[in-house]
Amino acid sequence: MSAPASSDLSAIVENIVATMAQETHRGKVASYIPGLACVPVNKFGIAIVMADGTVHLGGDALEPFSIQSISKVFALTLALGKVGDQLWRRVGREPSGNPFNSIMQLEAEHGIPRNPFINAGAIVVADVNLAGHMPREAIGEMLRFVHYLAGDESIVIEEDIARGEAETGFRNIALANYMRAFGNLHHPADLVLGCYFHQCALAMSCQQLAMAGRYLMLDGMLPGSGRVVNARRARRINALMLTCGHYDASGDFAFRVGIPGKSGVGGGILAVVPGVASIAVWSPGLNENGNSALGTRALEMLSEATGWSVFSAR
Ligand code: DON
Repeated sequence: MSAPASSDLSAIVENIVATMAQETHRGKVASYIPGLACVPVNKFGIAIVMADGTVHLGGDALEPFSIQSISKVFALTLALGKVGDQLWRRVGREPSGNPFNSIMQLEAEHGIPRNPFINAGAIVVADVNLAGHMPREAIGEMLRFVHYLAGDESIVIEEDIARGEAETGFRNIALANYMRAFGNLHHPADLVLGCYFHQCALAMSCQQLAMAGRYLMLDGMLPGSGRVVNARRARRINALMLTCGHYDASGDFAFRVGIPGKSGVGGGILAVVPGVASIAVWSPGLNENGNSALGTRALEMLSEATGWSVFSAR
């Protein structure tokens, strides 16, 4: 895949920002976590970091938002670094076809979640990352890992968001306890969930997020820093993002956008064009599947305008 000239890409970004500003159907902001409910629906940001390091920013690209489930990508990367392919004994690699917090499949599949991006899978990943640590240390390790990926130590975890979710996360509490009953959670559910809720509460801007996604664009390499994962692992994480990154709307996202992407209920999406670009978009209004309504539309416009798609020879 090739990149358009830098000036063309700037014009494309400007056009996307202008189009999104006109949009009246902006989706609904998530309200089940108190701290998310008050985010203004009129926000829109986009950041594109190219393989050569060039950065294109538009709209509210510098404003931090709650990355929520996008953190599952970084947590998975950390867990694979600790236990490697052993992880796949405890978590599957198939799309679930179900909403992110579904409990249905777990019974039929004996407490083994379908993939690491649905909540049950991400809770197992958090359990792996907690091994050998106190929860505070595991949360600190996750935060430092994201600092390293983004090259930015100003990124924080929002305690009020984590607390709000702990107070309302009854489904996640059920999922964790259910997996513990199957022996697929090795630590007490409340400790694992403490880590999970804190990773979801990472606040990052589109710029910081697109920077943190560079290793997935560059076959595992982090510019100026060395290797985060090997090329095969980067490829596989991208494959999981494409097939499972948007829950029961993953097929639709592949159809409309055609590149690996991971969404969060904060309204962010991290998307990767291998070898070409790491992209983050943010707009807090969600569509009926719980993914950013304008974020998805913006990425669709971007892939149309640039020809970026893992399914294209262009
Ligand atoms: O587990 C939860 O409910 C959230 N903290 C994360 C969910 C999320 O972002 C789902 N993604 N679209």
